[in-house]
Amino acid sequence: MTIGRVRTAVLSLASYRPGKAASQVEDEHDIVGAIKLASNENPWSPVPEVVAAISDAVSGVNRYADNNASDVRSAISEWIGVDVARVTVGCGSSGLLQQLFMTYVDPGDEVIFPWPSFEIYPVFSTLFAAHQIRVPLVDYAFDLDAVAAAVSEKTKLIVLATPNNPTGTPVSMRAVEGLLDSIPDDVIVVIDEAYREFSDPTFGDPVVDLQPRYDNVVVTRTFSKAFGLAGLRSGYGIAHPEIVEQLDKVRLAFSVNNLAQVGMLAAIEHEAAAMANVATLLNERTRMVEALDASGTVSVPSQANFIFIPTGDRTEPIAIAMEKLGVVTRPFPGFGLRITIGSPEENDRWLAAFLSSQT
Ligand SMILES: Cc1ncc(COP(=O)(O)O)c(C=O)c1O
Repeated sequence: MTIGRVRTAVLSLASYRPGKAASQVEDEHDIVGAIKLASNENPWSPVPEVVAAISDAVSGVNRYADNNASDVRSAISEWIGVDVARVTVGCGSSGLLQQLFMTYVDPGDEVIFPWPSFEIYPVFSTLFAAHQIRVPLVDYAFDLDAVAAAVSEKTKLIVLATPNNPTGTPVSMRAVEGLLDSIPDDVIVVIDEAYREFSDPTFGDPVVDLQPRYDNVVVTRTFSKAFGLAGLRSGYGIAHPEIVEQLDKVRLAFSVNNLAQVGMLAAIEHEAAAMANVATLLNERTRMVEALDASGTVSVPSQANFIFIPTGDRTEPIAIAMEKLGVVTRPFPGFGLRITIGSPEENDRWLAAFLSSQT
């Protein structure tokens, strides 16, 4: 029974499933000391200067934040070298993605994305009563010809996560250029770069490589992953000023809160320190891939802060076996296991748990 007349789209909506918390797994298996490697978080606190800036700002939370986040927009504009009118902010990059759906998607419109990909795209598609077209990955990578072929008059959005979640596979901006040339320019193409900082720069930069020629390209980025600010919900977007203007209308007022704004400013100022942590994570990624290779385990080459192991039908039993050993990963039943790269100690632990689940 439902109370009140819930929208049909919401009734049919499966809730977004975040990664299981370590405490949940501890309760489920009656264990202690579990670690969570299920949400692609940064294992380390933000750098000390960022923590200090956020702490200093806490006493100011009796005030609403600057709704426009003007200082943050200016800092981002200088940081990445684009006009400030092309910069927007969101309550996480998920908030921006939601704004994109709010802005462009009417009931019955089509939204296209490769699949499997970030699980929030189907959630928003359902919420906005859109017809979602999931274009299957080929060898874990995007099939952009199939994406282009799926475009119809009703297509409003195409969403490409690069590197893709959960597979860690990137798409090159040159390949996206081919897609853009073959579709109508009133289809918005979102390049979701949540994991950009972990990726090889030779795959390109949509802001530099695409946006000067294609007004319909929107880039979403975040401070959640590389900069370790997941809990603050601090995303940003780069787009044509007309798109920014529309997106800004639908953002929940003050949802990029005071602490998020201070955190973003400090994170930009202390970028180098965060990038040193990213370098450590990338070394760890290499170490783990080599260890998996040495054990005869196939993993998908990753450009993100996680590794995808295509465990197919064995995925759920392996995930449960690892949970019993206190290691929480993200299983995609029938497809594979996504494991976030953590600290060196956490990585040693998940590797041991994974290998023991294989015997
Ligand atoms: C592909 C992708 N995009 C966006 C996000 C959302 O990040 P946030 O809302 O924290 O910026 C995630 C988070 O896991 C993701 O995997």
